[in-house]
Amino acid sequence: MLESLQTAARYLKQAEHIVIFSGAGVSAESGIATFRDALTGLWSRFDPQRLATPEAFQADPELVWGWYEWRRAQADRVQPNPGHIAIAELERHVPRVTIVTQNVDNLHERAGSGRVIHLHGSIHDPRCFSCARPMQIPVAETEPPADGQRTPPPRCLNCNGMARPGVVWFGEALPEEAWQAAWQAVEECDVLLSVGTSAAVYPAAQLPHLAIEKGATVIHVNPQPVETRSEREIVLIGPAGKSLPLLLKKAFY
Ligand code: OAD
Repeated sequence: MLESLQTAARYLKQAEHIVIFSGAGVSAESGIATFRDALTGLWSRFDPQRLATPEAFQADPELVWGWYEWRRAQADRVQPNPGHIAIAELERHVPRVTIVTQNVDNLHERAGSGRVIHLHGSIHDPRCFSCARPMQIPVAETEPPADGQRTPPPRCLNCNGMARPGVVWFGEALPEEAWQAAWQAVEECDVLLSVGTSAAVYPAAQLPHLAIEKGATVIHVNPQPVETRSEREIVLIGPAGKSLPLLLKKAFY
C-alpha cells in the first residue's frame, strides 16, 4: 500500500488534468448503501427489475416513487465525508479537475466540487414521466418514508403526467451531453482516479479503459481488490474516506 501510495501521489502531483470517476463507494462512509456489496448493497435487498426500469415504474409507479423518495430523503439528510472533501480539495492543487460520477446524491457538489458530470442523473431533479418537464417537489421534512412504502407520484402541472425520479434507469440511454463531456474529459486527462465503483455498469465502465487506451494512468481506490489489465493501473486498497486524504497529503503537503 505504501509503495502504491507513493507512486500514485507522484502521478497526482505531476498531473495537469485529473478525472475523478466515482461510484457508490465514495458515499458509503456518508451512510448511503452501495448497490453490489454483499449483504449491504441495495441490489442484494431490492430487485432492480421491480424498481429501476421504465417498465417497473409503469407497472407500479407508487412503489417506485416511494422507493426513490426514501433514497432522496436519505441523500438529503447525510453529509459529504472526507473522501468527497478530498476530491473537492484536489481543485486547489491541480490545474484541471473533472468529476464524472455515477452517483445521484449530489454529495460531490455539497462537498464543494465545481464541475460535476452526472452520468446517471440526480435524485434531486424529478421530472414528468410524460412531458419530461422538471418538477419542483420538496423533500419530505418529516421522517423519510420506510423502504417499500408506496407513495403516489405528484402530478405535472403542465400535462398531469406522473413525476419520476431524475435518474437513469436500466434500459435507458445516458444523457447525451453528459456522456460526450465525460468521454472528452477522459480522452484529455493524464490521471483517472476511479473511486468506489465496481465498474460493472456500461457504458460508464468503459471510461477507465478509455483512459488507459489514451495513455493516462488509472488509480483505483477501493476496499476490495481490483482486477487490473495494464501496468498503468495502480490500486489503493482501502475506504475512500481514508485513502483519499492520505493520497492528497502525500502528494501536496
Ligand atoms: P457498486 O455497488 O456496483 O460498487 C460499489 C463499489 O464501491 C464496490 O467496488 C465496493 O467495493 C466499493 N466500496 C465500498 N465501500 C467503499 C468505500 N468506503 N470507499 C471506496 N469504495 C468502496 O456501485 P457503482 O459502481 O456505483 O446505476 O454502481 C454503478 C451503477 O449501478 C450505479 O450508478 C447504479 C447501479 O445500478 C443506476 O442506478 C443506473
